[in-house]
Amino acid sequence: MIMKCLFPVAGYGTRFLPATKAQPKEMLPILTKPLIQYGVEEAFAAGMKNIAFVTGRTKRAIEDHFDVTYELEDQISGTSKESQLDDIRELIAICTFSYTRQAHMRGLGDAILTGETLIGDRPFGVILADDLCVGEPDGVMAQMVRVYEKYRCSIVAVEEVPIEDVGRYGVVKGRQLDDRNILVEHMVEKPAPQDAPSNLAIIGRYILTPDIFEILRNTPPGKNGEVQLTDALQIQAANGKVIAYRFQGRRFDCGSVEGFVAATNFFFSCRKDAR
Ligand code: G1P
Repeated sequence: MIMKCLFPVAGYGTRFLPATKAQPKEMLPILTKPLIQYGVEEAFAAGMKNIAFVTGRTKRAIEDHFDVTYELEDQISGTSKESQLDDIRELIAICTFSYTRQAHMRGLGDAILTGETLIGDRPFGVILADDLCVGEPDGVMAQMVRVYEKYRCSIVAVEEVPIEDVGRYGVVKGRQLDDRNILVEHMVEKPAPQDAPSNLAIIGRYILTPDIFEILRNTPPGKNGEVQLTDALQIQAANGKVIAYRFQGRRFDCGSVEGFVAATNFFFSCRKDAR
């Protein structure tokens, strides 16, 4: 059973300035729910009740969000608005939330390593909240837990992207095991299209085995001078210990304005249909 999920949330969100000048990008809402809550709900649905954040300056709103807000709750108690807090109340009642700060932005690999103190020595999930996933029939992380239970190694979620976009992602290549699973042999962070081993891009969902921490400690800065998780995973892949899983469902890149608007439109049309 995987109990813990790590959320690296220290990044600045410069593509959303000025909106993210004084508030975390993870608190930007898709309709009425902040991005980070979609991610935590996905982890929770996968059975991960210990939620760990690698956070940073200007990110305190995330801590407040996953806590009781007494005055507000008192004020709306008994009104029709109260039901809007049902989902977040359930998370607060059942999950634990822990936080540690990443002092310097040294890349995703460094963020994950900073989270070691909250994770310990068991396999764990990682969710990048910028990637908002709508899984079919269940959440993408829940799908990945099933893949982990079969293969017992690190799992990355992948999808095909247009070749001209590969420079935004970690890209994998390997041996097809079945329709959805690939035994990764090679992975590279943000390649140029002409150097990309494929157009299968890693999205912001991972299950990692805890040996990743020791590997990360020994991983030198890579692409863009940052410690890259992809480089550490390549070490595991060389030992046949990484599966790339083609998830069922859709992903919105809410780290870009276009993806954010697409997600908003998608959720709004779902809500209209539900009425
Ligand atoms: C990170 C990872 C990259 C992955 C991407 C998914 O990049 O480094 O391998 O494909 O997330 O969103 P970032 O988007 O933080 O630059």
